[in-house]
Amino acid sequence: MVAHLKRDGYSIAALREMAKKRLPRPVFDFIDGGAEDEDTLRQNQSAFQTWDLLPQPLNGAAERDLSTPLLGHTLRSPLLVGPTGLAGLFWPQGEIHSANAAAAQGTVYCLSHGSVCTMEQLAQSHQGLKWMQVFIYKDRGFTRELATRAQESGYDGLILTIDNQLIGKRERDLVNGFTIPPRFDFNQMLAFARKPAWWWSMRNELAKITFGNYVQSQTPESVAALAARMGSLLDPRMTWDDVAMLRAHWKGHLILKGVLHPKEALEAVQRGLDAIIVSNHGGRQLNGAMASVLALPDVVQAVNGAVPVLLDGGIRRGSDVFKALALGATAVLLGRPHLWGLSVAGQEGVEWALELLNSELDRTMGLAGAHNLQSIREGDFLRSRRN
Ligand SMILES: Cc1cc2nc3c(=O)[nH]c(=O)nc-3n(C[C@H](O)[C@H](O)[C@H](O)COP(=O)(O)O)c2cc1C
Repeated sequence: MVAHLKRDGYSIAALREMAKKRLPRPVFDFIDGGAEDEDTLRQNQSAFQTWDLLPQPLNGAAERDLSTPLLGHTLRSPLLVGPTGLAGLFWPQGEIHSANAAAAQGTVYCLSHGSVCTMEQLAQSHQGLKWMQVFIYKDRGFTRELATRAQESGYDGLILTIDNQLIGKRERDLVNGFTIPPRFDFNQMLAFARKPAWWWSMRNELAKITFGNYVQSQTPESVAALAARMGSLLDPRMTWDDVAMLRAHWKGHLILKGVLHPKEALEAVQRGLDAIIVSNHGGRQLNGAMASVLALPDVVQAVNGAVPVLLDGGIRRGSDVFKALALGATAVLLGRPHLWGLSVAGQEGVEWALELLNSELDRTMGLAGAHNLQSIREGDFLRSRRN
């Protein structure tokens, strides 16, 4: 199936269009949308144009090596699959498909707190490298409990996401009446009926869609009710003391996600975190927040090589990955691009998204004159348009 589809999809943008054709509108919008006027969402992508590439073809980069050392492992390339909630709504057992794709492509899979399957179910069917993502909850015991479950299930890293303590105002979801689990009212049924391939593949799954890692009520919740319930669990009063609590509790790699300010990045290093993810949650949370790639250089400077700095937000081309690495990122995570692949063709679709970007990165390296990731960082390949 993918071989046939691949003819039409030679870019992440094409995969997005294919996902748009397959998914009901409210489901597509849940992946695609951002907070309020979506400025941050757009700028995450457009900010990559702040820098031009300055190729040096006479470096003779005929052979390229994309391998990426990260926290004691060597990944096949600098692309990781980032944590995204509800993947099981886009494809049956979506999280397991995505995780298997990540393993097949030699990279890390990050499971969202809001996965449809539980972290234990994923761990049972997936032997690859995996990180678990959590929040600071009002009940700190619940945060520790999730971390303990992740430790016992063999997760290698724990991601603490800090930019989601209040749920962003995603107006597409509010207007569409997006609910979890899906509501079977007239409008939703109409939206589903327009996408028979998705509907047929999900017919036995829809009633089971839930946040697997949480105890759930069986009654459908509107986004407003969901936001209220999550809001009742999440604690916006979170401070560095909570990060310290988690650092003391979790024995594996602890990764802080949602850092934009260099001051917070530096403090994370001082507090013993093992890596930082520069991110604004793909523009889904604080609209107006700085584009993550624009925040990257100051964070890299503040961290000064003490821990790996990862980036997500707006990666749609191999040249975006190249630019992030040239600005000092160790690796990048994919949010929407892997979900579009998943929505189109399950595991094969996620592998397709990864392969696409890896091959674009490889080609960019060849044309720019970079042999490996180290030479991207050291090779003076960027010029800012702002100067
Ligand atoms: C549908 C969706 C669900 C997400 N769920 C989570 C989540 O549960 N936890 C989290 O830390 N980030 C979550 N994110 C944010 C991603 O991890 C990532 O920061 C963002 O998508 C990167 O931007 P990109 O989509 O442009 O690649 C989600 C993103 C999307 C699109």
